[in-house]
Amino acid sequence: MIVVFGGHGQLGRELTHAASTRAIALQALSHAQADIADAAAVAAALARWKPSLVVNAAAYTKVDLAESETEAARQANEIGAATVATACAAVDLPLVHVSTDYVFDGRKDGAYRESDPVCPINVYGRTKAAGEDAVRAVLKNHIILRTAWVYSEFGHNFLKTVLRLAATREELRIVADQQGSPTSAGELAEAILNAASVFQHDRALAGTYHFTAAGVTTWHGFASRIVAAAAPITGRIPRLVPIGTADYPTAAKRPANSCLDCRLFVDTFGFLPRHWTVGVDATTRLVAASGQDTERQSENKSEHRVA
Ligand SMILES: NC(=O)c1ccc[n+]([C@@H]2O[C@H](COP(=O)([O-])OP(=O)(O)OC[C@H]3O[C@@H](n4cnc5c(N)ncnc54)[C@H](OP(=O)(O)O)[C@@H]3O)[C@@H](O)[C@H]2O)c1
Repeated sequence: MIVVFGGHGQLGRELTHAASTRAIALQALSHAQADIADAAAVAAALARWKPSLVVNAAAYTKVDLAESETEAARQANEIGAATVATACAAVDLPLVHVSTDYVFDGRKDGAYRESDPVCPINVYGRTKAAGEDAVRAVLKNHIILRTAWVYSEFGHNFLKTVLRLAATREELRIVADQQGSPTSAGELAEAILNAASVFQHDRALAGTYHFTAAGVTTWHGFASRIVAAAAPITGRIPRLVPIGTADYPTAAKRPANSCLDCRLFVDTFGFLPRHWTVGVDATTRLVAASGQDTERQSENKSEHRVA
């Protein structure tokens, strides 16, 4: 049995789906069912479900709001991470804790390795980096898995924002000077389940890893791919105008380079990421064909790459 905290987020829902297709027993707990900053709630969840491994997919992910809601971000991303890791340590459970490229400043020339020093440039990144440190401090038996640019058919994300805006606008202005690897939450869930099963049998593999889709693009390149994949279904082809980060100021600074080097994860767990275009095409077609309500959530971090 695997217990997932943050089970109703993008990744949590994809973990549930991936586990069901592999006949893996997994209990996904929503924020309402278990607040990870609440030690008694976390301990009670572990006592009730008696997992053999825990995944912490819970996080405060509203990057711009975090600049003003600093304490809320800290509660989930730092205190919550520490609380989950402490509860796992108390009953000797392995933990997969999900983290982010935002622990880096994005100024490196080339993809970030796990050994690169962290240097977050916004509150979200600082709280996530503090959460990583807390996990390392209290639980040897952990995998910290950093990822980036996550999207899925669930929740609020850049892919769904682009589809929603493309439905009504003739022109979208999209940031073209930040680069990264758009990563399907479904593929990330597969990678986590794969790593979890290996890690459960070899705790010597504990440590920090990176996982994203393969290949690199910009938010503008990501949007272009979404529009192209959706056009045969929606008939909509808005103009996509590349803009610079400076043309669209946001509350939180973003790293210009979000690329993560995933070789250590691939070599250790034998799970190869697909090129980012594969997941983007598939998820775009799914969302466009289902005519999902891609409702607005202006505080979502992905919203701010589109003007
Ligand atoms: N999305 C990205 O682009 C991205 C990029 C890099 C890394 N990551 C990391 O990937 C992981 C999964 O992210 P995601 O995209 O699935 O985020 P998400 O869709 O925002 O889901 C996060 C979930 O965590 C829950 N949550 C927040 N505070 C909590 C708390 N104190 N206790 C329990 N649950 C809590 C949220 O519930 P409520 O909504 O009810 O509060 C939400 O369901 C996170 O660690 C995130 O930092 C994400």
